[in-house]
Amino acid sequence: MKFFVDTADLEEIRDLAASGLLDGVTTNPSLVAKTGQNFIDVVKQICEVVSGPVSAEVTATDHATMIQEGRKLAKIAKNVTVKVPLTPDGLRACRTLRDDGTMVNVTLCFSPAQAILAAKAGASFVSPFVGRLDDIGEDGMALIGDICQIYRHYDAFTTEVLVASIRHPGHVIEAAKMGAHVATLPPKVLRQLFQHPLTDKGLAAFLADWQKTGQSIL
Ligand code: E4P
Repeated sequence: MKFFVDTADLEEIRDLAASGLLDGVTTNPSLVAKTGQNFIDVVKQICEVVSGPVSAEVTATDHATMIQEGRKLAKIAKNVTVKVPLTPDGLRACRTLRDDGTMVNVTLCFSPAQAILAAKAGASFVSPFVGRLDDIGEDGMALIGDICQIYRHYDAFTTEVLVASIRHPGHVIEAAKMGAHVATLPPKVLRQLFQHPLTDKGLAAFLADWQKTGQSIL
């Protein structure tokens, strides 16, 4: 399973990239707005830190302008993945950008039917939002299960399932069990994956015993 980090915060991205566990980055207009910085500059800087796919979202809603924006974003760096919304215009733009050879992430997916459309449009990634479905009392992880099951039936569907709107480590574990290709994690959730009280307790005990020996490895 690939791990992307879901943020436009460069400091966070630099820190997590240093872990060697990061395969890519996803941003959206809300995350970029939080930085208070110029969008193009932010994407450029992220692409200098991370060599894997970096999602940058178009903000137009008509396909012609989406394509113009997507082409501009794609010129920033070769690892830019243009993010388009799951609308008829978004999927039309997806097909054109894919024909250009640009990676495309189709975002705001909330149903298996939408995921089928994204695959047929040739998306590199489809982003189903699990947390936002949970928030309205639906089962976000059931959507991931459905999409993974459907995609497995068709060799022609090369779209990767990118689990988005993740709220906690349980989402990541369930997504991995279902065979989802990618999870995009908020930095806090990525750090939570490391944590287990028995790891901390065990390490403290090992170090205390080691200190008693009076030895040093170096
Ligand atoms: C990912 O690409 C999405 O932008 C993101 O996961 C949305 O998450 P949220 O529902 O926490 O805003």
